[in-house]
Amino acid sequence: MKKIVIAGGTGFIGQYLRQKFMDQGYDVLTISRGRQHVNWEDTSSMIAALEGAALLINLAGKSVDCRYTESNRSLILSSRVDTTRKLQQAVDQCGVPPKVWVNSSTATIYRHAEDRAMGEASGEIGTGFSVDVARAWEGAFFEKGDGNTRKVALRIAIVLGRGGGALEPMIKLVRFGLGGVQGSGRQMFSWLHIEDLFRIIEYVKSNEGLQGVYNCSAPNPVSNATFMQELRGILKPPFHLSSPKLLLQAGALLINTETELILKSRWVIPKGLLEAGFVFKYPIVHEALMQILGGSKKGAPVSRTVS
Ligand SMILES: NC(=O)c1ccc[n+]([C@@H]2O[C@H](COP(=O)([O-])OP(=O)(O)OC[C@H]3O[C@@H](n4cnc5c(N)ncnc54)[C@H](OP(=O)(O)O)[C@@H]3O)[C@@H](O)[C@H]2O)c1
Repeated sequence: MKKIVIAGGTGFIGQYLRQKFMDQGYDVLTISRGRQHVNWEDTSSMIAALEGAALLINLAGKSVDCRYTESNRSLILSSRVDTTRKLQQAVDQCGVPPKVWVNSSTATIYRHAEDRAMGEASGEIGTGFSVDVARAWEGAFFEKGDGNTRKVALRIAIVLGRGGGALEPMIKLVRFGLGGVQGSGRQMFSWLHIEDLFRIIEYVKSNEGLQGVYNCSAPNPVSNATFMQELRGILKPPFHLSSPKLLLQAGALLINTETELILKSRWVIPKGLLEAGFVFKYPIVHEALMQILGGSKKGAPVSRTVS
């Protein structure tokens, strides 16, 4: 049976990918801190798992949905960089290393952009803690040449899917009547349906010409105002209030998170994937949300193409 290894595969994205690849008949192994999987501390089991794998996907990383205290910053960084290096060490010791290695990165690597979209070549890398983490993450991944393993880093935008990720808290906000714009509402929201993330990984796996860095976002990002309008159109809350920046800052303190997750304008386009011929199943946010939330078909799409 063909084998796929997912490191950090017990979370929101990993569980989805695991099921999809198992449905295709793959043997899917998970590397995790948990005892029921291959453990990060057990190097020989990691090497055995990676030996001859068709694909290695690395998703490991402490959630960024927390206050950026010193200890959280350190864990956010090390849980990405150290795990990536551990995988490299194990890959190096394989007789037959994985054919392809897809490492997660983030669309947050680009600067706050309200003026234009960021492609891989034309985009400008930002500054600040999250950007530093992303750079270090990619740096660790590309530290060593690819040898016999083709390497692809995916700069993933906000992934939309059922039962997890960033959509869950946003649905709660809308249901509690806080589904208006957040901040100015002009900040861009680059997103991706989780099914398209799976399809992109499949595409990368089977297209040998693909390597290096790819933006992993739907081709039609929307503004925060449009995204919230789409959500309201489907969830139909009885009323909605907007959340100005000051209120968000107070709220973020109360629920132990950072406003950057909502207020940073992530305007990213998947230029590389489009040029490589990838076709998105969910290019428009309205259809993506309808599929995920199973909303009424009456809601008219309000999303627009901005790329
Ligand atoms: N979801 C998104 O919208 C999005 C967007 C861009 C990038 N990403 C990146 O994609 C990856 C997966 O995202 P996700 O939404 O599936 O996240 P998730 O649900 O939080 O899962 C992340 C996984 O990382 C592992 N992990 C957590 N802390 C760790 C630590 N200190 N050391 C080693 N492993 C640790 C956990 O596995 P165990 O507990 O089993 O060890 C967990 O299953 C993350 O790296 C994230 O930054 C996600």
